[in-house]
Amino acid sequence: MPSFSSSTRDIPQVKAVPRHIAIIMDGNGRWAKQRMLPRAAGHKRGVEIVREVVKACAARGVEYLTLFAFSSENWRRPAEEVSLLKQLFILALEREAEKLHRNGIILRVVGNLAPFGNKITELVARAEQLTRDNKGMTLTIAANYGGRWDLLQAMQCLIESQPQRHGAFTEEQLASCLAMAYAPEPDLFIRTGGEQRISNFLLWQLAYSEFYFTDTLWPDFDAAALDQAISSYQRRERRFGRTSEQVEVAAKAPPKKRELA
Ligand code: IPE
Ligand code: IPE
Ligand code: MG
Repeated sequence: MPSFSSSTRDIPQVKAVPRHIAIIMDGNGRWAKQRMLPRAAGHKRGVEIVREVVKACAARGVEYLTLFAFSSENWRRPAEEVSLLKQLFILALEREAEKLHRNGIILRVVGNLAPFGNKITELVARAEQLTRDNKGMTLTIAANYGGRWDLLQAMQCLIESQPQRHGAFTEEQLASCLAMAYAPEPDLFIRTGGEQRISNFLLWQLAYSEFYFTDTLWPDFDAAALDQAISSYQRRERRFGRTSEQVEVAAKAPPKKRELA
């Protein structure tokens, strides 16, 4: 497992193109409502947009793209909507895994999958297995995911892995037990659909991410909208607790040996 620099323990290297983009894809229901269509139509169009955004991110050199597809609180929705979302997930796994594989993409799914049942668990295992050795972008789908669930399961894993422990746990130990330990922290967090909240997404990893909120509804979020989010990101100064002057000095300094490796 690669180890990534932590935004609170080190100063991560900042690149022009965000290495990791995490997106809350919100607004499918409202998109459908505006068109007098059933919510299902919004979710279907939402899946099509996922394809476009995955392609655009890979083309721009994004290394990790993480999409929030179903939160641990989305079970509160009407049973028919939950069932439709499960069906769409199954269809997407069946139809897209091979295509992702041909495009060199690594697919990962994070979240508590058991409540979705065997079919989804098996399809996910198969798609992850098929794409695991690819060399392209890592696409993560968060399904029945919650930031609090993730922190709790990480604590559980920590305690179980070191039952005889004396002294405190470290940040690195906890981070290595999170569901997405294989990815660096998101550089850019995007939420479509106008709401400005995290809705229990990646609570630990968003510590120093740049936030971008847009009123654009997810089914309208195309490659051009993605580019706007990336240019907004490129205009930010990521200070990680330092002063602006320190950031400027650090930008002029030659990279440290560790970063050259
Ligand atoms: C996001 O769109 C998709 C999921 C949460 C699964 P919504 O379904 O939340 O759409 P709005 O927020 O009702 O418009
Ligand atoms: C967040 O959207 C979860 C996903 C996009 C999967 P919601 O629509 O569920 O969020 P809230 O309920 O408005 O916070
Ligand atoms: Mg919503």
